[in-house]
Amino acid sequence: MLKMSLEENLSKILIIDYGSQFTQLIARRIRELGVYSKIISHNKIKLSDILNNNVRGLILSGGPLNVYQSSKIKFDKRILNLGIPILGICFGHQILSQNLGGKVKKSKYREFGLATIKKKNKSLLTRDFFNSNNACNVWMSHSDEVSKLPKDFSVIASTKNSKFAMIENFNKKLFGIQFHPEVTHTKNGKKILRNFVFSICKLKRNWSPKRQKSKLINEVKIQVKNSKVICALSGGVDSSVVAKLLKEAIGKNLVCIFVNTGLLRKNEEKQVINTFKKRFKINLIYVNAKNIFLSKLKNVSDPEKKRKIIGNLFIKIFEKQAKKIKKIKFLAQGTLYPDLIESKSVTGSQTSKIKSHHNVGGLPKKMKLKLVEPLKYLFKDEVRKLGLEIKLGKEIVFRHPFPGPGLAIRMPGIITDKKIKILQEADQIYITELKKHNLYNKIWQAYAALLPVKTVGVMGDNRTYEYICLLRAITSEDGMTADFFNFDKKFMQLVSNKIINNTRGINRVVYDVTSKPPSTIELE
Ligand code: XMP
Repeated sequence: MLKMSLEENLSKILIIDYGSQFTQLIARRIRELGVYSKIISHNKIKLSDILNNNVRGLILSGGPLNVYQSSKIKFDKRILNLGIPILGICFGHQILSQNLGGKVKKSKYREFGLATIKKKNKSLLTRDFFNSNNACNVWMSHSDEVSKLPKDFSVIASTKNSKFAMIENFNKKLFGIQFHPEVTHTKNGKKILRNFVFSICKLKRNWSPKRQKSKLINEVKIQVKNSKVICALSGGVDSSVVAKLLKEAIGKNLVCIFVNTGLLRKNEEKQVINTFKKRFKINLIYVNAKNIFLSKLKNVSDPEKKRKIIGNLFIKIFEKQAKKIKKIKFLAQGTLYPDLIESKSVTGSQTSKIKSHHNVGGLPKKMKLKLVEPLKYLFKDEVRKLGLEIKLGKEIVFRHPFPGPGLAIRMPGIITDKKIKILQEADQIYITELKKHNLYNKIWQAYAALLPVKTVGVMGDNRTYEYICLLRAITSEDGMTADFFNFDKKFMQLVSNKIINNTRGINRVVYDVTSKPPSTIELE
């Protein structure tokens, strides 16, 4: 059963999750359209969840399964006859087609990445979608395809390798599409979702950051009741939003803890203490744990080990502080959806693990404190909108993300005090120049990293043998996918010179020109 809350009465789109990396992205696109949506795993859904919850449309997500693995897939055919519009995406398109009498088989040619889709027939689903040549660029990720149309279906559009890439039974309001409209790479993907939500499901706008705020506050109140909560505050936008939300939700029962891991950016601890203690008058405990973090990380170079050690230490510190404060049952943290999806499956469907984000996969199995993670289904830009809604200052709301494990994962190889100092200097120079040149707000995230390689250089008339500094700057919408930022040569030259002239220990600067995927944003 879906958990009851104030939002359950709202008209909504229900997304049935088959384990896609993009399921929450679908939910978020629907929220962006101003409509409430909810996700439930195919393993857990019951017909009553659909019938009793004001569901006006169903979306079947993509996923890593094949339709022939029937023992792992739950599909209740009764959903096909409820008169509720259904949109199947990728795997959802295949499972829908199969259950309506169509056929699915391994594609002769797999399609990953961009493909051009061409219009075959007019459909309400594709209003404003195709360009003047009746085509559109879409993003594909599949190795199976629908090879025979279900009865009473027609083709809306095809790609070179997928004849039935977009199909419909308009009378029954059933639609299947092989590509992903929810990712930004599908040029007009949002239009497909807009047409489905407003023209086909006939929903009206009922969702906004304001409603999001009251929903989250309400959920926190229900979860923690009269208990005290400690909040892991890093000073970044996510944990700052959590702290401010929690203050509104539970008032004095909130205690924030800021841990100096020794892996922060230059002067960061002073800034955080000033902002939160002085400006926001938040009850803040400062823990200087630099020595313990650095000693536990000594000689550790494996990225997953680093993340696990840091995650464990954070929890131990919070548990220790909780004991001191007494009667603390909960730990609040600013986990976002992209942190979760890359660490594990959220809804209980089958999703592949990419890496353990420190505040998720790094948690010890037996943890005494229960987690409060109000932002765990949101994306960064949604959290920013929420931040403005709860009146956090712009300088916090638009700060670039900084990962919990901090500089540890921007320093492949072992971590030493000396390397941290070098990296802090270089990073500060880079970020200061970005701000001076009005580039900071055009970039989603930028940082300097220190590579574990020394190379030879020449300064004055002397040979140097020092580290390589890697600069990263990316544009992104939500951190799930990213592209590198295009600097002009003058700016790169200026930053490179400043870093080398002012940072002892670096004699070479390189710029990372990979997108995500195939790389990730951080180095580890
Ligand atoms: P990746 O490297 O996975 O990063 O492409 C995506 C976004 O997440 C941030 N990130 C983290 N944030 N704890 C966090 O709080 C972590 O362990 C962590 N790892 C990565 C990263 O900075 C980027 O914004």
